[in-house]
Amino acid sequence: MKYNDTQLREFGLARESLPRHVAAIMDGNGRWAKARGLLRSAGHRAGTERLRDLIRFSSDAEIEVLTLYAFSSENWARPQAELSVLFSLLVEYFTKEIDELHAEHVRIRIIGDVSRFPANVRRAVTDAENRTAENAGLQLNIALNYGARAELLRAARHLCEEYAAGGPLPDEAALEDALYTAGQPPVDLLIRTSGELRVSNFLLWQIAYAEFYITSVYWPDFTREEYIAALRAFAARGRRFGGL
Ligand code: FPP
Repeated sequence: MKYNDTQLREFGLARESLPRHVAAIMDGNGRWAKARGLLRSAGHRAGTERLRDLIRFSSDAEIEVLTLYAFSSENWARPQAELSVLFSLLVEYFTKEIDELHAEHVRIRIIGDVSRFPANVRRAVTDAENRTAENAGLQLNIALNYGARAELLRAARHLCEEYAAGGPLPDEAALEDALYTAGQPPVDLLIRTSGELRVSNFLLWQIAYAEFYITSVYWPDFTREEYIAALRAFAARGRRFGGL
């Protein structure tokens, strides 16, 4: 169900001041678990549970793109046991939620290099991408083994190849087309939970003019209400894009 203007107003939101592209660094699963005397795996599970409401709200509010940082290229440094938990959660998530996401017309795009993941993870995410490829609703980017420097390098190499083959000198549009996010609007709102003031190699090109929303809330506590608060804070910012 899509919200009409009146329903959005009930959340304190107005359609014209919604971001087109929201990105989130989902941080604090481990600390959330520790604070409750639970295993880190319980934090990751609780963090995964949060996705449903956020995706649903983004879709219903007709936000165009939602990009979630699920696994960074630096996350390989974690103990094997934790990596295994994250992999099983990914497979479980994409297997269990795919029907509902598809029914909501969500289009899933994996950004990052999935070649290093175990075969069952690769299969689950590729199936999800293929199955939803024609959907015209919310574009949901899931960053897996993603790093922005690697993405930019990949794009630069692609442009070099095109140039070497006789193509023109690339401009900004050509570089954008060579990124994983080709065809999508730039990030308007970047959310980071658990109070860290870092970008952590996420979407460096795409966040050039993004508004940052940092909250001390740990990711598993980032409810729909917290999301709405972030969207309201975004609406209250005066964006000038370098102008006056
Ligand atoms: C950061 O918390 C979170 C991660 C490294 C993983 C994020 C993954 C999920 C929310 C679930 C899987 C995603 C999908 C799409 C199914 P942390 O472990 O760094 O927390 P800490 O900084 O408190 O230790």
